[in-house]
Amino acid sequence: MEVRIFNTADEIAVACADIFSELIIKKPECVLGLATGASPVKTYNELIKRYNNGKLSFKEVKTFNLDEYCDLPRDDKNSYYTFMHENLFNSVDIKEENVHILDGNAADADAEAKAFDAAIDKAGGIDIQLLGIGTNGHIGFNEPCDTFSDGTFKVKLTDSTIKSNSIYFENDSMPRYALTMGINSIMKAKKIVLIATGDAKADAIKATIDGEVTPNCPASILQKHPDAILLIDKAAAKLL
Ligand code: PGA
Repeated sequence: MEVRIFNTADEIAVACADIFSELIIKKPECVLGLATGASPVKTYNELIKRYNNGKLSFKEVKTFNLDEYCDLPRDDKNSYYTFMHENLFNSVDIKEENVHILDGNAADADAEAKAFDAAIDKAGGIDIQLLGIGTNGHIGFNEPCDTFSDGTFKVKLTDSTIKSNSIYFENDSMPRYALTMGINSIMKAKKIVLIATGDAKADAIKATIDGEVTPNCPASILQKHPDAILLIDKAAAKLL
């Protein structure tokens, strides 16, 4: 696991966009695993800037998103479908047919999850997976638990995640379930880049890097990935 420490989130965004740009230029039909939340927003802005400057095209790029809430309309302002379109897809030349976001309202969640993993395999696997990290060490919505998950699945969100993400929802309306890529789906990515900024992530980052590999801190599994890079700021790195 490679750890790079930066002074600001803007510097992280440039470093992360550099990693993605290099791949997209080298392999225009690459497969990206994308993330939502606050952590990747500046990276997406940086990628849009490079697209607008003519340095990057997403015309052949395929994307798979880590997770999506259940029981939330796809066009809800808080769905990850909406997030991705507002923060990246609407501003670049990606083809909608190349965008893959789990359907959190699928009648058969298991079938939806299996089809998603199969689509990733069919696309040739994920070249780079982008991750944030929860204050509880979750990646995607793989919450701390007793065993590492396998493929994509439906998960009950923990109180800690509900507390962190409720700020975006009115009147306690945050969904309690989500579909998420499993730990094995994430670990199959050829390269993984995790972004973390701020004091609130310091405990999770310490456990991820220096702790034992345990499903109680799902991100700790990244210690076993052959090409995982953590881009973190000084606040998130303060306990290292
Ligand atoms: P954040 O969320 O980027 O909004 O901090 C990360 C996560 O919960 O995985």
